[in-house]
Amino acid sequence: LVQQLPKAIIIGVRKGGTRALLEMLNLHPAVVKASQEIHFFDNDENYGKGIEWYRKKMPFSYPQQITIEKSPAYFITEEVPERIYKMNSSIKLLIIVREPTTRAISDYTQVLEGKERKNKTYYKFEKLAIDPNTCEVNTKYKAVRTSIYTKHLERWLKYFPIEQFHVVDGDRLITEPLPELQLVEKFLNLPPRISQYNLYFNATRGFYCLRFNIIFNKCLAGSKGRIHPEVDPSVITKLRKFFHPFNQKFYQITGRTLNWP
Ligand code: A3P
Repeated sequence: LVQQLPKAIIIGVRKGGTRALLEMLNLHPAVVKASQEIHFFDNDENYGKGIEWYRKKMPFSYPQQITIEKSPAYFITEEVPERIYKMNSSIKLLIIVREPTTRAISDYTQVLEGKERKNKTYYKFEKLAIDPNTCEVNTKYKAVRTSIYTKHLERWLKYFPIEQFHVVDGDRLITEPLPELQLVEKFLNLPPRISQYNLYFNATRGFYCLRFNIIFNKCLAGSKGRIHPEVDPSVITKLRKFFHPFNQKFYQITGRTLNWP
């Protein structure tokens, strides 16, 4: 058994379904996951510790297996593409995306929950997403910026050709995980091993859960699949209109059309 550097990395996007994707890929016998987010390439202090530090964070695996890690901050952090390129210029990169407005609200919901836990009040989503002076979409708001997928991807394309990326449809991973996972198996050149047996819908959770074998199954933590606050429909419309041209560009670059509104 050895600790191998990852052959594939889930680089983002935050709230796209990165945990579900990693856990589901781990159903494959040839895939071994790094359980924690390592934050090696996006955190200067960690990066300064060097590649052997990173390797030591990896799980033990057999040489014929592949290691995968996920750190969603990689996708939006300036320095990361160059740093990953320096480690392995032929690495495979997985990006899981959701409809950008839904993703932004999911992102907001996570931050809101953190504030509430500390008994702090927080702004309403509408106040953060729309600039009160101009009534236009507030592009300084991080949850909005993160959802402009094409802008981030363009930075990555300075280092890696598009063939090294695979886009996972995070909305479909929720409702119909198997075909999405089969596309990833293909992209990673893995024999198809994940089957419907491995995924069962749990009505109480409202999500698919994972069945590894007759004894062991699990659902994701309760923090995955939060109830989103209701958002003013006119704000949703405004955001969808704002994201539209960026989405078109994203489909064009990646070759994956997602039919977002
Ligand atoms: P919501 O909490 O907005 O529903 P990430 O792991 O990148 O933070 O993504 C979290 C999202 O994963 C959740 O967002 C949820 O919708 C989605 N997800 C996809 N498949 C899931 C599953 N099987 N169980 C729970 N959440 C899942």
